[in-house]
Amino acid sequence: MLSLIVVTALILGVSAQNHPWDPQPRDAGWLQHHERFVNQTLAHMKEEQIVFVGDSITEGWGGNGKAVWAKYYTPRHTFNYGIGGDRTEHVIYRIQHKEFDGLKPKVTILMIGTNNAASNTVEDIAHGVEETVKELLVKMPETKLILLGVFPRAEPLGAKVKQVNTIIKKLNNDKNVFWLDMWSAYESADGHQKTELYVSDKLHLNEKGYEVWQQTMEPLLKKLLN
Ligand SMILES: *[C@@H]1O[C@H](CO)[C@@H](O)[C@H](O)[C@H]1NC(C)=O
Repeated sequence: MLSLIVVTALILGVSAQNHPWDPQPRDAGWLQHHERFVNQTLAHMKEEQIVFVGDSITEGWGGNGKAVWAKYYTPRHTFNYGIGGDRTEHVIYRIQHKEFDGLKPKVTILMIGTNNAASNTVEDIAHGVEETVKELLVKMPETKLILLGVFPRAEPLGAKVKQVNTIIKKLNNDKNVFWLDMWSAYESADGHQKTELYVSDKLHLNEKGYEVWQQTMEPLLKKLLN
């Protein structure tokens, strides 16, 4: 009887969750951040050549990644659209509400999904990432999209995002969606997360972690810019 109740509660709990592919706004502070990005797009529409889209790990280019960004990305007219805490459904909301309307960047870089790991299934997260890719391409049909695999993070969620990567890598089509594995750059030969590239939460990157991101992505980025 008890197990039946537990199973029922689990089923109800899962079905009550948001789908990671259904657009979802967050709180007032977040809406303001979103509005700043809409303004960024309106102000720099013609100038934007590379855009980064994602969560706090992308937003961190303005923090621990600042020096690397200034050296490699500012000169190439790159703009950041990362908001800390975002899950796929929040990015989809942003895309549907004018953040990318009218932009024609040569390259769009997306990394998203790690914040869904605590509350969604692997399949649903992958579906959310797929929808995010599709929505970005609706708004920016001529861009080349680099889909980054979700980076390693501490267990128990590390194993889950690794599984998400095995699904979303299939979105690669070598035409306008280019999958790039990031996992191996943040993992040692014996299969452990290279924590020396992260801050103490083992989720966010330190400066060295951003250097590795830039270096790992540079060959593909260069190819797509030419
Ligand atoms: C965005 O731009 C509008 C029009 O210039 C301005 O009124 C608004 O305050 C800006 N929003 C943010 C969050 O900066």
